[in-house]
Amino acid sequence: MTHRYDSRATAPIGVFDSGLGGLSVLREIRALLPGEDLLYVADAAHVPYGNRTPDAIRSRAQAVSGFLLGQGAKAVVVACNTATAVAVNALRARWSVPIIGMEPAIKPAAGLTRAGTVGVLATEGTLASARFAALLEQYAGDLRVVTQPCPGLVAAVESGDLRGDRALELLARYLRPLQDAGADVIILGCTHYPFLAPAIEERVGPDVAIVDTGAAVAREVRRRLQLDGLLAPAEHRGSSRFWSTGDIAAGEPVLASLWGHAAPLQPLQTLTAGGVSA
Ligand code: DGL
Repeated sequence: MTHRYDSRATAPIGVFDSGLGGLSVLREIRALLPGEDLLYVADAAHVPYGNRTPDAIRSRAQAVSGFLLGQGAKAVVVACNTATAVAVNALRARWSVPIIGMEPAIKPAAGLTRAGTVGVLATEGTLASARFAALLEQYAGDLRVVTQPCPGLVAAVESGDLRGDRALELLARYLRPLQDAGADVIILGCTHYPFLAPAIEERVGPDVAIVDTGAAVAREVRRRLQLDGLLAPAEHRGSSRFWSTGDIAAGEPVLASLWGHAAPLQPLQTLTAGGVSA
């Protein structure tokens, strides 16, 4: 039997985040779609996005997406809740390829909680966004939702600190209000936080469910590509390539630890006027 594929099906999928946190999404995409070539950009020169203005984040999201599309990406995954919250509409308005974003898992959490109280850990930018307010409006219903911005956690993960004194001290501080409120579901609303999930689990105990969105994003990527006939041929073995706008020497060991094995991190220079180039 002859299979026909859209010629773009063999093109890569572009994925980006402010830093290396989006690897928590990339690993889910890799697991679900082993045949896809993946391009990942850590915009580490501009991390964290969480306390930048919406305009600044939109400009970075446009620049990095432009780079990924210049590399031939057939779809772009915004592996960042903060960038999705303020930039995904602008990206979709500008480009016609599938742009897949993500948001804190309020809807699944509503189905999981027995206490009726859920906690959300996310960046200041995500929690302050109109998109997050709309998400609560749509899915929170009678839920009590306790939100907690987490300054410093992204920097801890970017430095490879998943269990050091600093990370544990910040986690204790940020989890306390959620525990005091009796939350039995904790939503990891930032793609850096799944790397801290073991430390979070240890602190909150086994009766609290911890949810993140990486696997759901991977399923959505598959659904969108399938819909457009853009899934890579089954016999293809996917590759993964990584770029960073930040410090390569500092980033490479953290990439190796978060991704699970060493891989080259290529430099990406930031240009003016919203463009980037390798
Ligand atoms: N990892 C990102 C998110 O999901 C952004 C973190 C940041 O740069 O502040 O929100």
